[in-house]
Amino acid sequence: MKKKVTKAVFPVAGLGTRFLPATKSIPKEIMTLVDRPLIQYAIDEARAAGIKEFIFVTSRGKNALEDYFDHAPQLEQELRKKGKNALLETLKTTNMESGAIAYVRQHKAMGLGHAVWCARNLIANEPFAVILPDDVVAADKPCLQQMVEAHAEIGGNMVAAMEVPEDKASSYGILDCASSEGRLVNVKGMVEKPEPGTQPSNLAVIGRYILTPNVLRNLNKIKTGTGGEVQLTDAIAGQIGTDDPVHGYRFEGTRYDCGSKAGFLQATVAFGLAREDLHDDLDGYLRGLYAGAAAAQ
Ligand code: G1P
Repeated sequence: MKKKVTKAVFPVAGLGTRFLPATKSIPKEIMTLVDRPLIQYAIDEARAAGIKEFIFVTSRGKNALEDYFDHAPQLEQELRKKGKNALLETLKTTNMESGAIAYVRQHKAMGLGHAVWCARNLIANEPFAVILPDDVVAADKPCLQQMVEAHAEIGGNMVAAMEVPEDKASSYGILDCASSEGRLVNVKGMVEKPEPGTQPSNLAVIGRYILTPNVLRNLNKIKTGTGGEVQLTDAIAGQIGTDDPVHGYRFEGTRYDCGSKAGFLQATVAFGLAREDLHDDLDGYLRGLYAGAAAAQ
């Protein structure tokens, strides 16, 4: 029986400059997808996968994130007084058990690998998950849960994988695949943001990982890589061919890149349409919009 994955790291130290000026005073992880902040989707996914300890790697200016997961006694009291029980229930999803959530600071913006390394003392000697909240995955079974189940069978290191268009490969970590079996891919190489045209495949790493403590050890040694940053991809690649090999997992679901404006808008429309209470209004609006545009042509 493989050791259960109960800890997850959420790297949330980024400045979110792509969303300025919105992110001047709020962390990008608090930005709202329909009616919940991005980080709530990541936490819900982690919970569904059996994660019990949540480690946030933060930076200056991220206090709103800490407050978000705190109790809000005044607000709760007001809602209780007014009998707004449904809203009280909604608020409960944001509460974390005392001690379940820990914050460590990344003092310098040195990349994703460095951010994960900052959590090393809290992870200690266990397999752990990493969730990048920018990557939102809509799936019947949450993406990390799919991976945790596959990991329980096979162990080692696992990264979520998805085909991307050829001209987009240079924006991702890309896998070099030795062989595949069902959703699992045996990885024989990994490269972070390859130069256009040099990618070994179009199979990209998406922001869900299950990693072994050996990756942390590799991070101890790793020098800066692509973009002058310490790359998590390089530390994971260091495990290829060891007793803790690397697998890609072709997850079931649709991934939205909420780190980009277009991706965030697409996710907003898709998640809005998927909501029973919003579907008809939004669908009617979109149909009207397209019919109007077609008529004007
Ligand atoms: C990070 C990783 C990259 C991965 C991507 C997925 O890159 O470094 O390997 O493919 O997330 O979203 P970033 O998008 O933070 O530059």
